[in-house]
Amino acid sequence: MCGIVGYAGGKEAAPVLLKGLEKLEYRGYDSAGIAVLNDGKIEIAKAAGKLQVLRDLTHEGQTVAGLVGIGHTRWATHGEPSDVNSHPHISKSGRFAVVHNGIIENYQQLKAMLQKKGFTFLSQTDTEVIAHLVEFFYQGDMLDTMIRLTNELEGSYALGIISADEDGKFYAMRKDSPLVVGLGEGENLVASDVPSLLAHTQEVYYLNDREVVVLSADKVEIFDTNRERLEVTATHIDWDVTAAEKGGYEHFMFKEIMEQPQSLQKTISPRLQDGRIVLDDFHITADMLRNVSKIYIVACGSSYHVGVVGKYILEQSTRIPVEVDIASEFRYRDPIIDERTLMIVISQSGETADTIAAMREGKKQGARVLAIVNVLGSTIAREADDVLYTWAGPEIAVATTKAYSTQLIVVDLLALKFAELLGRMDEAELAEYYRALQALPQQLEQTLADKEKIQYWASQLYNKHSIFFIGRNLDYAVALEGSLKLKEISYIHSEAYAGGELKHGTISLIEDGTLVFTLATYQPLVEKIRSNAEEVRARGAYLVSVAVEGDEQMQEVSDVVFTVPRTLPLLQPSLTVIPLQLFAYYVASQKGCSIDQPKNLAKSVTVE
Ligand code: F6R
Repeated sequence: MCGIVGYAGGKEAAPVLLKGLEKLEYRGYDSAGIAVLNDGKIEIAKAAGKLQVLRDLTHEGQTVAGLVGIGHTRWATHGEPSDVNSHPHISKSGRFAVVHNGIIENYQQLKAMLQKKGFTFLSQTDTEVIAHLVEFFYQGDMLDTMIRLTNELEGSYALGIISADEDGKFYAMRKDSPLVVGLGEGENLVASDVPSLLAHTQEVYYLNDREVVVLSADKVEIFDTNRERLEVTATHIDWDVTAAEKGGYEHFMFKEIMEQPQSLQKTISPRLQDGRIVLDDFHITADMLRNVSKIYIVACGSSYHVGVVGKYILEQSTRIPVEVDIASEFRYRDPIIDERTLMIVISQSGETADTIAAMREGKKQGARVLAIVNVLGSTIAREADDVLYTWAGPEIAVATTKAYSTQLIVVDLLALKFAELLGRMDEAELAEYYRALQALPQQLEQTLADKEKIQYWASQLYNKHSIFFIGRNLDYAVALEGSLKLKEISYIHSEAYAGGELKHGTISLIEDGTLVFTLATYQPLVEKIRSNAEEVRARGAYLVSVAVEGDEQMQEVSDVVFTVPRTLPLLQPSLTVIPLQLFAYYVASQKGCSIDQPKNLAKSVTVE
């Protein structure tokens, strides 16, 4: 979704803003713009299309002079992608420019009020009301104006604002939309996400809702809505600039797929100590756990798919009933929650609007909320009662891979810890799992080494129009993810089914040559899924299977078999998903798709 960058420092702002926006491209956008403050004047350059259009328009930022500025990549919500709807938006007199991420829910009322006062609107956006509103409220004090905005604006926003009356500084604030302050030396910045700041600083401040920040080259001041100045406490970010660069790979997605063994290692290592699982600061006792009557896992998209794995393994290892819900459904379905509910929310970004809303609903009704999150300091991480970070590092490709894999590991660790606390696994079984967890990064490496085979088959099968993924139990959960990976980046229609469910309707779609991926790695049900594979094969399906090494059963019924190393059943999804990620990647590559930024998609879905 939209991205914001703001800069005040000793360098020319425009090239810095363009570079910063480039690092936010992954979020998904359809237009871009900058506003730069120079000698009491604001100059704006903006255009629909990719950042390159803006680069060309401004000669890489050279034609827009000034040391303070704000920039924006827009993912259209109100009004089509066009030059005029692009941000920044400017007030009537041209003295204020605004960039905005989020949705102003009461913009129509505000617009009607402003129109009555003589303001005219050029765009179809909700953001333009903010620019005019700033001008309407402004009486010589920008801090007052910002605070006034917090009272008037309903909905979500991250804002960057410059005023022609205030040279050398800019203002920013947020509510329910991400915004991070970068604390540099002789330069200070804001951005929607950390990668935009890394070229300047690794010291950041995570802005809280309704805090107003005033930034100049050598000062960052933060105020609450009572004009009280707040302490700026820096968090050190452990990533360097290269973490968010392609490093020689053609696509971020491929780089992130290949990074998974290291990411898994980072997620596992600190949590396996002296033969015991230690879950950071998440302290839960056996008594507390025995008091839990129900676990809800709530998330969106791929994170939801991790939740589906979580349901199977947590129920197996705890015998506590687990429900897994799509966050946008959960928040409106009046779920039955009380103080005995444990709610697990899963989110890579920690900023997904529906997941945030579901979490708040759960908390309001008394649930204890445990968040599994990748982005440090994100809204979900800050608001949950407990957090387990996935430590996957920055994930730039829109289609998640390493974040998904590390989320899986955290769910595994949780299930094992709970089993240990409840006495549902004996020492020997637990020790076997710890050994298997330690071996997993190496096994993942081994699975990735088979990539050429998958690349070959992708080159043979990329022209299919519809693909099915089937599996049972944990393989079904992985099938959901394999299918999503394929459709989001290759635009091939695909569906995932529980193996036993296909014959209740969908099998009518199977005809000669229909490609069916059969996941047959969940050992207790391999024979069952083999029967389902036979059923579709008998109707002409072309069968690609994923099986564990040494399993002969699937060889006989499949046209192609991708093998993965064997591990313990609960951990198997971490390996089974790899051929599916690679297949989706190679198919999309073969089709020449925009892999890192698929059409219509955004990395962090910060609107409902
Ligand atoms: C798909 C993908 C999305 C996200 C979903 C939730 O590859 O990445 O489906 O999983 O938008 O995002 P987070 O995990 O940030 O809450």
